[in-house]
Parts: sequence; C-alpha cells; structure tokens
Amino acid sequence: MREFPKEFLLGGATADFQYEGGFNEGGRGLHSHDFETSGSVDCLRQISLKLKDGSRGTVNYRDSLPDGAEARLYDDIYYPSHQATDFFNHVEEDIGLMAEMGFQVYRFSICWSRIYPTGDEDMPNEEGLEFYDKVIDELLKNNIEPMITICHDELPFYLCKTYDGWSSRHVIDCYVKYAKTLFERYKGKVKYWITFNEINAVGGYAQIGTHKQDHQTHYQAVHHMFVASSKAIQLGHQIMPESMFGTMFALSEIYPATCHPEDIFAAYQKRRESLFFVDVMARGKYPNYTKEIFERKNIHIIKEKDDDQWIKDYPLDFISFSYYRSTIADRHSTFDIMGGDVNPYLELTPWGWPVDPLGLRYCLNELYDRYQKPLFVVENGLGAVDILEKDGSIHDDYRIQYVNDHLAQIRDAITIDHVPCFGYTMWGWIDVVSLSTGEMKKRYGFVYVDMDDNGKGSLKRYKKDSFYWFQKVIKSQGKIIHGGKE
Ligand code: BG6
Repeated sequence: MREFPKEFLLGGATADFQYEGGFNEGGRGLHSHDFETSGSVDCLRQISLKLKDGSRGTVNYRDSLPDGAEARLYDDIYYPSHQATDFFNHVEEDIGLMAEMGFQVYRFSICWSRIYPTGDEDMPNEEGLEFYDKVIDELLKNNIEPMITICHDELPFYLCKTYDGWSSRHVIDCYVKYAKTLFERYKGKVKYWITFNEINAVGGYAQIGTHKQDHQTHYQAVHHMFVASSKAIQLGHQIMPESMFGTMFALSEIYPATCHPEDIFAAYQKRRESLFFVDVMARGKYPNYTKEIFERKNIHIIKEKDDDQWIKDYPLDFISFSYYRSTIADRHSTFDIMGGDVNPYLELTPWGWPVDPLGLRYCLNELYDRYQKPLFVVENGLGAVDILEKDGSIHDDYRIQYVNDHLAQIRDAITIDHVPCFGYTMWGWIDVVSLSTGEMKKRYGFVYVDMDDNGKGSLKRYKKDSFYWFQKVIKSQGKIIHGGKE
C-alpha cells in the first residue's frame, strides 16, 4: 500500500464569488461577477446591462459588451453570486466541517472589493479585513493551512467601469496596493499565495473587466497581470520571507486527435498556447514562439521599459493548476484554449467534460519536465446532480470514484515518477455556484448545501458519502486510495 509523502497537503478549494455571498454586507463594493445571471449548460450566464439608449440588455459572460453598454443590476433578476452558498454567515460551521474531514489546507480567494470597495481608495475597508481575520484565525485554530488566491477572476466594478479593467496599467498599482495590504495583515499566518486564478483561461468582462474581448485587448490585459504578479511576488517575499508564490493555470491536457503529423503539430501548438502563460511566469520571459502567436493573432503588446525586468526577476516559486478533463485537437480545430473536441475513448460527465485521470499524471510529468518547480493541484473535481435523501444522506459514489481515480494518478506521479507535487485541494469541497453556468445543481462538494438554481433553500449543510470517504483518505494519507499502479 502506497501513501502520499508526509508533507503532502490534502484539502479543498473555493472562490469567494461562488461561495462567500454577503455581497452588500460589511462595506463590500460591487465586483465584476455581481452582474452575472444564472444559466445552464445550453445557455451560459449573461451579464445584465444598461444599453446605450437606456434600455435593458444582456450579453454572454465571455463576449464583448455592446458599444456604450454598462453592467447594471436589476431588482427582478436573480444574481447567484450575491448570496452564493453563504460562507459569510457560516464561517465557524463550515470550517468545523473542514476540520472534521481532517483538512490540512484550504485554498480560498479574497474578495478584492471587500478590501478595497472601488479598488481605488487609499485605505482598505477594515470591516472586510476583519472578516478574513476571522476566517484565517479559525483555520489556524483548526490546524488548517490557509492558501490564498489574491484574485480569482474578478475585480472591483469601479475599476472595470472607470479604467476598462486590466487593459489599464493603473489597475497594476491598485492590485499591488491590495496585495500589500493582505501581506502586511497576514504575514506570519499565511505562507502560500496564488496571485491569479486560471490566468491562461480568463476572458470576458467579469473576469478581466475589459469591455472588448478581442485578442489585442486580452493579451495586453494579461501582460499587465504578469507585471502585477511579479510586483506582488517581490513585495510578498520582502514582507514575508517564508512565503511561496504560485499562479494558477487551467491545464487540462490536449492530445493529438490522430497520429497524422499535422494533427500532432497542431495539438502541440494548442498546448503551447496554453503553456505560454506558464512559460512567461515560471521562466521569467516571453518565449521565442510568442512572435508566431502574436503575428497570427495580430497582437502588439505595449510594454513599459522595466516590465520585462520585473517578469524576469520575480518568477513563480511553484506552479498550481486546475485539472478537470482532457481534450483533443487536430489541424482543423478552432478552439482557443478553452473547449476542444471530445476524445472517443473517454466517458463524459453530465456537463459534457471528458473524464481522464491518467491525463493528470501526464500533466504533472509534463509540467515538471518543463519547469522543474514544485507543483500543486489546486482544483479538480466532478460537477454532478446529487440527490438529497429523506434521511439527509447523499450517495455520491460517482464523486468518490472520480476523486479516487485522480488522486491515484497523483500518487503514481509522486511515488513512481518522482514528481514533486506537494498538495491537492478538491474543487468546491462544499457545494458552490457554478462558474460557467451559475447553476447550483452542478454540485462538486463533499458537503451538500440546500439551495436550488433560483437561490431558494434553507442553506443547511449535509454530509455526503464522499465526506466520510475523504476523511479516511486524509487520515490514511492516501493509503486507502485504490487504482493506479498498485
Ligand atoms: C475553474 C474555476 O475553471 O473551474 C472555478 O477556477 C470553477 O472557479 C471550476 O468553478 C469549475 O467550473 P464550473 O463552471 O463547473 O463551476
């Protein structure tokens, strides 16, 4: 029986706008996800708008806003992130559940607009900081290592409206000021920091705050995020010498659809477009092939004199990533980082995501071969419909199977391939609102939250069968996981 190394951390992950709620409490400002409606697998979420002529409108959450339109809230629309699954009012109870499972780590994001309501203030909102003081102290009391995502795909609405989000360099300064506030407040308490979530997959007004979503705007915005990340790492190391910094990348594998050389090369190029972001942030420079991508997409990055130096001097200490699925590409594929074609050898989840545990071992090996930095799987999990039985039980053997099979591959990558992966946080350890569809019925958790797609329900927490199973996984440090090369 093999187990994870003693120092391997097991736990769960969430993001504030999917979990925290309390959108108008404690002085929190509006942020970019507050305007998203709920949706479904066939109709993705929309951003509610006031159009140029004053009338109401909506736009798909990853599309450009129509000219002159601005995000706007309406009383008769349901916005899932406002309440989410209400961590705001369940801090002790939920951390108690984490502790009962034996969590060694909890990855969560801080809501930027709870700390700087507009993003542009000189002084932070003390009440917002007090909320996270409570969360962090409660975690530490329960021996759970906090891992903080500074920015999980969101920014204060004021920065989107006034500066066009990350297309403006001014937002770099706002981000660094916000990060510095967190470092000064949580030094000595928080060691692991993630500067951005899925930086290689962000897109749309809600995630980067830009009104337009063309390639030029997008890559320029991401360049600003690269610089902001490096500046935060410099400050973070200075304020907290023991700290370790990562950025999170969406790295679901991309395989060639056939062994036709053109398909192999096409898949390689697609993968590289995704790894481009890791190359810049882990190796500290724009790689040579950037020129080809930028020429093809007609991108001209405007840089300031010191930008490249910042990126070079302050690369990542570790690489964290999400892995949910794999995908295939051939010479005709047109998808752009997200999406992709379906592998005929793999089964799909009810939301159409191919399930591929071995792809995770492949990915861990690929990343370590390429970067030689410690790795952390900060998101992985299964979105499924769960049934709450009359006696309060939930029999989610499909989730146990999914998480077991992925953990088995991580264990193989560590114990057989000697890849230094130092932890795993299961995504949505408690049910949260889905990022892409805004649904509640797409559930990931070990803990069920009584709430439906319209935000109705008691918010009561119920332990699923997977809760008790994961408790045993942690207790045995992974020994009870089966599969992989036993
Ligand atoms: C990742 C995000 O892309 O995938 C999470 O970092 C998200 O925020 C997760 O929730 C799963 O996606 P979804 O759409 O099923 O919630």
